[in-house]
Amino acid sequence: MQSIFDKQINRRNTGSAKWNVAEHELPMWVADMDFETAPEIGEAIRKRAEHGVYGYTVLGEEWYEAYQGWWQERHNFTIEKEWLLFCTGVIPAVSSIIRKMTTVGENIAVMTPVYNNFFNSILNNGRNVLESRLRYENGVYSIDFDDLEEKLADPQTSMLLLCNPHNPIGKIWGRKTLERIGELCIRHHVLVLADEIHCDLTKPGSGYVPFASISEACRDNSITCIAPTKTFNIAGIQTAAVFAADPVLRHRVNRGLNTDEVAEPNVFAAVAPVAAFTRGGEWLDKLNAYVWENRIFAERFIEAEIEGVHAVKGEATYLLWIDCREAAAELTGLCAFIRKESGLYVSDGCAYQSDEGFLRMNLACPKALVEDGLGRLKKSIEAFKAQHGN
Ligand SMILES: Cc1ncc(COP(=O)(O)O)c(C=O)c1O
Repeated sequence: MQSIFDKQINRRNTGSAKWNVAEHELPMWVADMDFETAPEIGEAIRKRAEHGVYGYTVLGEEWYEAYQGWWQERHNFTIEKEWLLFCTGVIPAVSSIIRKMTTVGENIAVMTPVYNNFFNSILNNGRNVLESRLRYENGVYSIDFDDLEEKLADPQTSMLLLCNPHNPIGKIWGRKTLERIGELCIRHHVLVLADEIHCDLTKPGSGYVPFASISEACRDNSITCIAPTKTFNIAGIQTAAVFAADPVLRHRVNRGLNTDEVAEPNVFAAVAPVAAFTRGGEWLDKLNAYVWENRIFAERFIEAEIEGVHAVKGEATYLLWIDCREAAAELTGLCAFIRKESGLYVSDGCAYQSDEGFLRMNLACPKALVEDGLGRLKKSIEAFKAQHGN
């Protein structure tokens, strides 16, 4: 049966960062979907555009209620209205919060491999990245808690930047794991900054656990970033939210966002989240089902067709993390080789501080493109093997 997500939309020459590639290339890198957003969101944006006056904008009650209602209904978590602050994006929020809540020269702990822009937000602000590497055994990632505790116990460590669910490995952290992270952070006086932007992109039937829902203590020792932008493919609208339950933390975050000038919405940034979170649920369920099918298809294809390459099983995000380490003895330059050889543009795992030989492939596109991408991957891995031996 045809799905709305099978529709192929030409995004070339539309100012798309993802599709700013050569004619023969297939971009499956940045976390941006090739689908039209939910019709309800398009409708709300068109309605606002038709008004014709685009002045300075404030958020109405409905913006707060939309976030509150969605987290209550879909994630069983109560966000109080006064906890919520607007921000123009999750990364602008992360950078601003780092500047406001930590000092230059302090360590910010991250569990790697992790979203590459975290490193920019930390390093560009003069803080140190303190990596706790995730364990990877038998195709499964887990936290090395001894190592994490050692990093958190360093007196120079003031913040843990948590990715929940975790990009690029597609992992949903469970309640017990988050509890343990939360306890360690409290014990060592480390503030948790939880980036939960991928929280709605999960395997049908499985949800995520908001870090702030773990306990009152975790809630009061954390700041959380959320947004409709990944979920509904509206990153170009630049709209996100931060919540902090603790009034002192929140006051400081609010001052930081304001002085950094990332606290004011554009006209569409105020409207889109309301349509998304009040009317986008049905569309999202269909999207998650479609993306899940793409994931299963890709995992099976890789296992069956590409020797020495393994798809890491993930239950969140639309990103597939691929382990190519058995494909060749020498893996340097694999990602660039694939692009040159086949035109397939995927992300190099090294950008996320993984070992050499990992790739991240974006599966949020019509299945025909996933098939095309996997065919290109197979062909170029074979060519790489032929050149580099295994
Ligand atoms: C974990 C994570 N945080 C933040 C972002 C970007 O958020 P924004 O576009 O709101 O800055 C991304 C985009 O891929 C992401 O994966």
